[in-house]
Amino acid sequence: MSNSLSASEKKVVEYYNRSTDEFFIKRWHEEHIHFGLFAPGETVRLDQPVKRVVGMAVERMLEAVIQPAMINSEDVVVDAGSGIGGTALKVAKRHGSRVIGLNICEYQNDIARSRATEAGLADVVQFVYADCSTSLPLSDESVDVIINIESACHYTDRYKFLSECKRILKPGGRLVAQDWMAARGTSKKLSQEIYSIYIQPLCNAWFMESLETKSGYTKMLCEVGFEIVEFVDFAASALPNAYIIEAQYKKLANLVKTHQLSDTQCLWMEQFRTLSAAWLAGYFQLQRYFVRKN
Ligand SMILES: C[S@@+](CC[C@H](N)C(=O)[O-])C[C@H]1O[C@@H](n2cnc3c(N)ncnc32)[C@H](O)[C@@H]1O
Repeated sequence: MSNSLSASEKKVVEYYNRSTDEFFIKRWHEEHIHFGLFAPGETVRLDQPVKRVVGMAVERMLEAVIQPAMINSEDVVVDAGSGIGGTALKVAKRHGSRVIGLNICEYQNDIARSRATEAGLADVVQFVYADCSTSLPLSDESVDVIINIESACHYTDRYKFLSECKRILKPGGRLVAQDWMAARGTSKKLSQEIYSIYIQPLCNAWFMESLETKSGYTKMLCEVGFEIVEFVDFAASALPNAYIIEAQYKKLANLVKTHQLSDTQCLWMEQFRTLSAAWLAGYFQLQRYFVRKN
């Protein structure tokens, strides 16, 4: 791990080092570390293994996020915060584009690199160490599309990240992102009290310094100089994720009455508790934004 990382980023790396296999690959999804999108009326079976319940929905989220970028074979694509390589490999396989995954977690980069080799895509897909809060290791105006899925919520400097995106994109380049955001619930403003009751505990449990709001993102994107094409709040299609994690919280809360939980299980319990509470109370949302560099 690089010595130049902030304490907060070191914790993010340690978190993904220890949870990538044990939680995400084993219990969530083989290829993706993000939430799913559920079809209207889709039955979500809370009594079934999570992996089976979220499988298709997770794939659907990826499609919904990248669709507006209209990626083609000529595009140079960056996946910022590339996890275990699922997005980068899918884009390279489907569109034939060159893809560069950037990730602060070398443990995940190694998994992604060996998957690229196994898929015969190592020539077109690279996974490169980068702290996206600091700088993106690409030259000016060299990239057509940047994808950023459920990663910027961890960054200590999102303004810097967006400025770097603007720098490396070619004119006409597109940034498509989906991120965890704080929402206002039914009130006009997200009050400090609500933030400290619902959002700060969630940030503490999930290794994030803060959560952005849609208006915070809008302001930054405008200041950096992007043209905002659209924001989409996934709202109802994403809500079943909250019921799924609430059910996982309840299982662990029940178990703790009779068993000693491991440190990892205690962490999961706090993660599931804080996130489902904020989501179900209407103070958390997943939003996608699509912006262009003119
Ligand atoms: C929730 S996972 C999402 C992974 C991937 N985008 C996906 O959808 O499967 C968050 C990812 O962001 C990465 N990440 C967090 N902070 C980062 C930073 N400062 N720079 C680069 N990557 C970061 C993590 O290592 C992890 O791979």
